Amino acid sequence: MNIRILADGEAVSRAAADCIAALVREKPDCRLGLATGSTPVGAYRNLADRVRAGELDLSRVTTFNLDEYQPMAEDNPASYRRFMRENLFDPAGIPLSRTHFPDGSTADENGTCREYDAAIRAAGGIDLQLLGVGRNGHIAFNEPGAALVAPTHLTPLTESTIRANARFFASSDEVPRSAVTMGMATIFAARRILLLIIGRDKHDALRRLYDDTVDPACPVTFLKLHPDVTVLADEAAYAD
Ligand code: F6R
Repeated sequence: MNIRILADGEAVSRAAADCIAALVREKPDCRLGLATGSTPVGAYRNLADRVRAGELDLSRVTTFNLDEYQPMAEDNPASYRRFMRENLFDPAGIPLSRTHFPDGSTADENGTCREYDAAIRAAGGIDLQLLGVGRNGHIAFNEPGAALVAPTHLTPLTESTIRANARFFASSDEVPRSAVTMGMATIFAARRILLLIIGRDKHDALRRLYDDTVDPACPVTFLKLHPDVTVLADEAAYAD
């Protein structure tokens, strides 16, 4: 695991965009695994700026997002699909036909979860998976627990995640109580992982990457087992 501490969130976003842009230049039809939330927004803005400036072409990438709330209609303004359209796909010229999400609308969770993992494999696997981390150490919606789940699956959200995500909804009552998420094995199948950690409230999660333990009560620690992980964190998350 290569951990780089950068001055601030802007520097983290720029370095993340550099890394994605370098991959896309080398492999224009690469598969990107993408995250939602506040953390990657600066990197997405940076990528969209490069596309607008004619420095980068993202029109041939294929994307797979980590997760989607359940239940969640595709056209709901709080859906992750909508978030990705607004923050990356539309401004960066990524055709929607090349974007994929776990299905948060259907009751047939098991079937669609298996299909999502199969679709990733059929596309050739994810070349680079972008991740944020929750305050409680979750990655995607793999929440702390006695055991973690390997494939894409339906999962209840913890109270702390519901509270943290209430800012994207009118009130915390409106936050869906479940999500469909890539599992640990789905994430681990990515060739490279780029984890972004920005802000003081992620301090504990970042610190857990410096000890030698792997702990299901802090899912991000499992990334120590992956052979190619880069962590870009800011001073605010690092400082004591
Ligand atoms: C989002 C996701 C989550 C977030 C995490 C951090 O697709 O998978 O694990 O990365 O909750 O969220 P922010 O970046 O809003 O602090």
